[in-house]
Amino acid sequence: MKLITVRILFFFAVLQLFSCKQKEIDLLSFKTSVLQNESLSVDQKVEKLLDQMTLEEKIGQMNQYSGFWDFTGPAPKDGKAATKMENLKKGWVGSMLNVSGVKDVKAVQKIAIEESRLGIPLIIGFDVIHGYKTISPIPLAEAASWDLEAIKISAQVAAQEASAAGINWTFAPMVDISRDARWGRVMEGAGEDPYLGSKIAKARVSGFQGSDLSDPSTIAACAKHFAAYGFVEAGRDYNTADVGAATLNSIIMPPFKAAKDAGVKTFMNSFNDLNGIPATGDTYLQRTVLKENWNFDGFIVSDWGSISEMVTHGYARDDNHAAELAINAGSDMDMESHLYVTELASLVKQGKVDEAYIHDAASRIIKVKFELGLFDDPYKYCDEAREASVIGSEKNQSSVLDLAKKSIVLLKNQNNVLPLAKKGQKIAVIGALASDKTSPLGNWRLAADINSAVSLLEGLQAYSGNTITYAKGADVVIGKTGFVSELTINTTDTSGFKEAIMLAKKSDVVIMALGEHAMQSGEGRSRAYLGLPGVQQELLEAIFAVNKNIVLVLSNGRPLTIPWAAQNIPTILEGWHLGTQSGNALAQVLYGDYNPSGKLPMSFPRSVGQLPLYYNYKNTGRPSPVNPGQVFWTHYIDQKNTPQYPFGFGLSYTTFSYSKPMVFHTYSQDKQVTVSVKVTNTGKREGKETVQLYLRDLFASVIRPIRELKGFEQVVLEPGQTKEITFTLTDQELGFFNNQGIWLVEKGDFEVYVGGDSQTKNKTNFKL
Ligand code: NOJ
Repeated sequence: MKLITVRILFFFAVLQLFSCKQKEIDLLSFKTSVLQNESLSVDQKVEKLLDQMTLEEKIGQMNQYSGFWDFTGPAPKDGKAATKMENLKKGWVGSMLNVSGVKDVKAVQKIAIEESRLGIPLIIGFDVIHGYKTISPIPLAEAASWDLEAIKISAQVAAQEASAAGINWTFAPMVDISRDARWGRVMEGAGEDPYLGSKIAKARVSGFQGSDLSDPSTIAACAKHFAAYGFVEAGRDYNTADVGAATLNSIIMPPFKAAKDAGVKTFMNSFNDLNGIPATGDTYLQRTVLKENWNFDGFIVSDWGSISEMVTHGYARDDNHAAELAINAGSDMDMESHLYVTELASLVKQGKVDEAYIHDAASRIIKVKFELGLFDDPYKYCDEAREASVIGSEKNQSSVLDLAKKSIVLLKNQNNVLPLAKKGQKIAVIGALASDKTSPLGNWRLAADINSAVSLLEGLQAYSGNTITYAKGADVVIGKTGFVSELTINTTDTSGFKEAIMLAKKSDVVIMALGEHAMQSGEGRSRAYLGLPGVQQELLEAIFAVNKNIVLVLSNGRPLTIPWAAQNIPTILEGWHLGTQSGNALAQVLYGDYNPSGKLPMSFPRSVGQLPLYYNYKNTGRPSPVNPGQVFWTHYIDQKNTPQYPFGFGLSYTTFSYSKPMVFHTYSQDKQVTVSVKVTNTGKREGKETVQLYLRDLFASVIRPIRELKGFEQVVLEPGQTKEITFTLTDQELGFFNNQGIWLVEKGDFEVYVGGDSQTKNKTNFKL
């Protein structure tokens, strides 16, 4: 009896060996006859590869793990890591994130290529959000430049450095529109406006992906977080989002659509629920809108653990149910829930998941790998020589410096305190952020070296004609400020005030560097108070008491509420978190070597109670009261409706004037309306103006906002010079989505405003 069992087992073992051998031989010829066959299209190659794959291997492509072990080090002991390694060897991992650097990427890729049955290369993802090692301004700051070409170059630089470090996929751009500065992730987006946000989405996708994804210096981009993550209630990260059709279609969706139209290869869904359905399990968003209506043929990755979080949301019964809901809703890749790899095969066998969904998801993922050229050479992003020469190059430093200068916004310059004289001045620099060489790198700086930014103090010291002295005054935060560590805000220690006050007393000008440390904005960093954190307001007032000649340089990842400063401090410069070249950029602006040209991509509120606050609001039946004391109008009894600084606002060291816009209207013949305006530099210096066009459709079947940005153009003018700018409005600018998602252009009366910010009164009318 026993002997028979042993013989049967032996027979099966031989059979198994034979069939494995058979597959390997097939695979070898497969590589030459299919993968390298130039007469086959990518889609055909993908299909032929899928024909070779088992159900488990297809599911494996849908599984993404975070880096779990030093690949060049000893074997992992931890159970989770061991399972990941085992699955990697089995070909049950399609992608890894958080593995970077040629040495480590090569090591992990080698396991996938050499040890898995089919040797399908991994796609290597990383959060390259505003640079890899050479860091650009945070995306919100970049948006303040309104310079699409510079933003595109910034993404190109990020892609060049990341791809040189073995990475071929970034989880960027974040294209979430947000109207609530409490949300910490506003730093990662392009602000509050869907038109500007769409243009920037396109620029960033084309910067990352270039025109040829197989070029080793480009990487696949990812439009995230689909959808409505920027509308989490009360600005609290991960909170629920409750959004109607009008806002979803006209405000939230356009930048995602623009990213899709720009050819973005991947989308990421999001942590939040939208109207009661977690985005990760939302069939309407992922299958209906994205894959069907928009014909998106790339793949969708979940956010980190967002599949298993559907159990916590109360949407899925258990993990198994969560995996079923996610794949059926169209989520193709599982980031770190570890559920597709454990649950999907049995769900297919039980008939709860259609195998066609698995096939479709795997084919989308494999297609992107083909497009990246990973099947031609899985190590094409693993070139040590390129890694050493590209990362941190001088060219990259000068690109990020260029954008850093363009991102700075001059908010106030009473009595022309700025630009500073270059000689003979005693300048006191006060504030912990002035000497900080890490905070300027911003929140998403995973691969950057700490202390690698040029601080404001260093930037100022590079100009030698003035006497520069420095006092910290007070810490902003205390404790470790690493990426995940908890911060303690300094709310008590004012022991450094005395020294700072002494210094301010004997100086001509005081530059105060105040605001948020980089780790006070970003993911998981929502704030309920938006003033200067800790004792900084107190410090500012103490210095003001002894020297009123203050230049306030703000560092922050979001709009702040600074009513006292706006009222009292003569000069305010919005300096965000500007990246590696931060101090140089700020110094060049402060000294006037660069004339500031940035414009706010988000309204700055007067107080938190105004939030959400945005320029493109609706008039309502009872608009803001015209005179004080009027009660039954939409307003607060204790605050104005208007922002402290509006969307689109930013000053220059020169001034500009605008002629009244002229409308030339040939809509009945060629469906076009042209609007032209003359812009003149009325000051004494050359300057750059961002000319903004806003439209108001006065009555429509779905109420239109009080004004909407529909065009902008940047113009550089010499003193006294005038240029005519012409905008063309087509159905794309004149129409809107109704609540069924249908694009309508309705006849009627319009107002068109052209000016230097969203509150311009320079307008004319036309009729369609
Ligand atoms: C969670 C964030 O929401 C997402 O934007 C990011 O790409 C992933 N973590 C991966 O780090």
